[in-house]
Amino acid sequence: MISVRLSQGEHAVIEKGTEVAEPQGKLGILLPGMGAVASTFIAGVEAIRRQKAAPIGSLTQMGTVRLGKRTEKRVPLIKDFVPLASLDDLVFGGWDIHGESCYETAVRSGVLDPRQLDELRPHLEEIRPWKAVFSRKYVKRLAGRHVKRAANKRQLALQVMKDIDQFRKAHDLSRLVMIWCGSTEVFLKPSEVHSSLAKFEKGLEENDPKISSSMIYTYAALSMGIPYANGAPNLSADIPAMLELARKNKVPVCGKDFKTGQTLMKTIIAPGLKSRLIGLAGWYSTNILGNRDGEVLDEPQSFKSKEETKLSVLDQILQPGVYPELYGDYHHQVRINYYPPRGDNKEGWDNVDIFGWLGYPMQIKLNFLCRDSILAAPLCLDLALFLDLAKRAGMHGIQEWLSFYFKSPQCAPELYPEHDIFIQLMKLKNTLRYLKGEEMITHLGLEYYD
Ligand SMILES: NC(=O)c1ccc[n+]([C@@H]2O[C@H](COP(=O)([O-])OP(=O)(O)OC[C@H]3O[C@@H](n4cnc5c(N)ncnc54)[C@H](O)[C@@H]3O)[C@@H](O)[C@H]2O)c1
Repeated sequence: MISVRLSQGEHAVIEKGTEVAEPQGKLGILLPGMGAVASTFIAGVEAIRRQKAAPIGSLTQMGTVRLGKRTEKRVPLIKDFVPLASLDDLVFGGWDIHGESCYETAVRSGVLDPRQLDELRPHLEEIRPWKAVFSRKYVKRLAGRHVKRAANKRQLALQVMKDIDQFRKAHDLSRLVMIWCGSTEVFLKPSEVHSSLAKFEKGLEENDPKISSSMIYTYAALSMGIPYANGAPNLSADIPAMLELARKNKVPVCGKDFKTGQTLMKTIIAPGLKSRLIGLAGWYSTNILGNRDGEVLDEPQSFKSKEETKLSVLDQILQPGVYPELYGDYHHQVRINYYPPRGDNKEGWDNVDIFGWLGYPMQIKLNFLCRDSILAAPLCLDLALFLDLAKRAGMHGIQEWLSFYFKSPQCAPELYPEHDIFIQLMKLKNTLRYLKGEEMITHLGLEYYD
């Protein structure tokens, strides 16, 4: 067996063909923030368990992985290839600043058909969020009364850990993962209190304002050895203090900001343009969104968190430094407009000004009528199952192979993130092959033409 680093810095060193423990017992999925995405995810899993719907969009449920040469015709389902938790073994819990049940949230969010929700009602009514760690300092547009009180932020973290412990005992859970599905918090820069675990813990005691609510959940999860994914763009696991804690407790982490909607399209189209060396003069993206997420993002400081992750993708894919004539001077703009009548059904418009042979200009117009939470729910499922797999495989620290799911993939500090969705998918599947001791696929293919 060979020992290879999957990446530098925070990654665990795992061996090819490593022994991965089978998933025994139930897996608890902890969701701080039980809004549109979380309720669509939970309701969806229940509908799929009852065989009333298909897990469309989920790589763990419907995806396959090619093994060996093309002539071998070995293409198992991913879930048959690696030992993933079964949907029947998932149990959901979470926190929210509103005390409504998952059923009430799903109805209010207006994503799923009310008739479909009625069938699932008894199950969804049983899932009620615990009181949240919340402060309006970090999400200015929200207010709720279902909120924890404590003398300081360390006490709040301890309360979160207590919730988790009770949940684990009540459902006899053998493993847990946490996925932040809460609102986007205001933009924060990494600062002194985030720079080490000792400073962060002191900051918790002293109620440091640079420690946001989401960081308190992250700290609680990582302290308990629970893998963590960040579905929103705000700072949480991507600070040195949390990476130190993840390393200390050997916990996998990944983030951030689910890649859905307009950015998903961008990371599909941009690699295609670049592959043909088609130049880009400008990319203007705007959209209308009417759900609570849209309302939160209407506030400039929360939007700033989002804007940072949305803008970063093109530069990395197009490499203006390497291709100055093609991409050295493009204009990239992103707007989000809160427009209540549309609810969760976002409409996005992209105008892409491109140029070809001899510099002749062309345009692409993209009009995506999407459903935000329908696109995000399968990502939550895959992340929960893959993080649980990573933990059982002994992988810890940043899980760069899960970049596929994020707008702003977390990676080792000395690396640039990989945004090209096709490279991300290859990285993910090669990681699975590597775990199982299969040859990685390079797509070279010369062996067929000896
Ligand atoms: N839907 C998508 O396609 C998508 C894509 C990328 C990122 N996201 C992010 O995912 C998150 C969830 O999106 P959504 O559409 O479900 O939003 P939502 O507003 O419906 O749900 C977020 C929930 O988080 C709760 N919340 C806020 N702060 C909290 C805290 N400190 N503790 C516990 N609960 C808290 C809110 O009360 C709300 O119920 C948002 O941050 C959004 O930006 C969503």
